[in-house]
Amino acid sequence: MDQATTLRNMVKERRESDVKKKARVITVTSGKGGVGKSNTSVNLALALSELGQKVIIFDADFGLANVEVMFGALPKYNLSDVIYRGKSIEEIITPGPNNIGFVSGGSGIVGLSNINRDQLAYLIHNLNSLDSLADFVIIDTGAGISDQVLSFAMMSPEIIMITTPEPSSLTDSYSLIKALYRNPNFDRANTTIRVLANKASTIEDGELVYQKLSSVVSKFLQGRLDYLGMIPLDTTIDKAIRQQKPVMMLFPNCRASKAYKLVASDIVNGTHLANNVKRGISEIFSSFMLNRRL
Ligand SMILES: Nc1ncnc2c1ncn2[C@@H]1O[C@H](COP(=O)(O)OP(=O)(O)O)[C@@H](O)[C@H]1O
Ligand SMILES: [Mg+2]
Repeated sequence: MDQATTLRNMVKERRESDVKKKARVITVTSGKGGVGKSNTSVNLALALSELGQKVIIFDADFGLANVEVMFGALPKYNLSDVIYRGKSIEEIITPGPNNIGFVSGGSGIVGLSNINRDQLAYLIHNLNSLDSLADFVIIDTGAGISDQVLSFAMMSPEIIMITTPEPSSLTDSYSLIKALYRNPNFDRANTTIRVLANKASTIEDGELVYQKLSSVVSKFLQGRLDYLGMIPLDTTIDKAIRQQKPVMMLFPNCRASKAYKLVASDIVNGTHLANNVKRGISEIFSSFMLNRRL
């Protein structure tokens, strides 16, 4: 049996035995760097945890340890320690504030396509427990149309597309969405792409970002985007970053923090998931590896 068949069988077995809860997996991505993905991941995690949700942030931007820096803590382990050194997923979760955990992908993600059957079985088994440990897994990705970013976004049932009012951010978001739609593995019908307008100066400014992007996606790709909301351009975010604390912790009542809370409540209470097939994190990783092998 080749590796892809083995993996497919393992995923199938898991699905059949899986009556447990699955975490809601949200990939935070963008076409352009520096638009606020890591900020959003961390502050949204805090806002969700205020609403009683157990959140794990998965840092898939392996080049830059953004999330770690923002929490002021460096994780000792990453996904490679699960794959190659027999650690459990629980052991590599670095505890953050408000019961938020974070997992660093490290170089583990890069090596995912080369692991052997036993390592794969062990990883999938471990990722199962991540599903039961968390209500939400937020995946913070790098920017752009790289393999890694696309693979994560492609597998995730929910995508938050961070876009700023800058024209280049809009065109880069469009390119990323186009690349997703063109990929045969992308499940358009079961994926929600929601635009979060970041660094917007007013509510109208945020809505305009959404309208511009969604109208080109509708016109040229016959696709549909939803609007998640806006986070204002707020200088307290930079102040917080300088102190290595998320703005939600340092300035819980500033404009940006209030906006994160609004977005979190919409994510928890929104009805947008009604038609979505819920895929847990272990299923997403399995598909991720399958697609890289095929
Ligand atoms: N709403 C905002 N208002 C002001 N500055 C912001 C906002 N969101 C992000 N930033 C700033 O933009 C920069 C990039 O943010 P970051 O989250 O690291 O982006 P990314 O992860 O997309 O590369 C940081 O310096 C951050 O402080
Ligand atoms: Mg980042």
